[in-house]
Amino acid sequence: MKTLLTCMLTATWLLTASAWAGDAAAGKSKAASCVGCHGVAGISANPAWPNLAGQHGAYLVKQMKDFKEGTRTDPNMNALMTPLSDADMADIAAYFSSLACK
Ligand code: HEC
Repeated sequence: MKTLLTCMLTATWLLTASAWAGDAAAGKSKAASCVGCHGVAGISANPAWPNLAGQHGAYLVKQMKDFKEGTRTDPNMNALMTPLSDADMADIAAYFSSLACK
């Protein structure tokens, strides 16, 4: 129940947040290469790969930028973020944050 409430509050916060504005529908297709690790619904099957569903959009964008710029390091993620633009990241973040968390 607490988790559900947190998800609902997160969704409400995301709808009112203006720091970023992504397109979740566009993000879904851009996330095709991500779901192999992070899960089709943003829930990962492997504990080494974080769940992304229901995460704050602004947080997801920051992590993706940090991987792209190399201030956060992971061999796969650093390479995967290189081709993404700021708009791609905002769209992908909108998609994963729109998914229900576990
Ligand atoms: C080969 C597996 C793999 C693929 C494919 C992959 N990731 Fe990741 N991702 C990881 C791992 C592992 C981490 C955790 C790295 C660490 O320990 O810092 C991570 C971390 C992240 C995080 C930070 C999550 C957090 O809670 O801090 C985000 C956001 C993310 N990935 C987005 C993406 C996106 C977007 C894509 C597709 C463009 C993608 N990932 C593709 C393995 C993958």
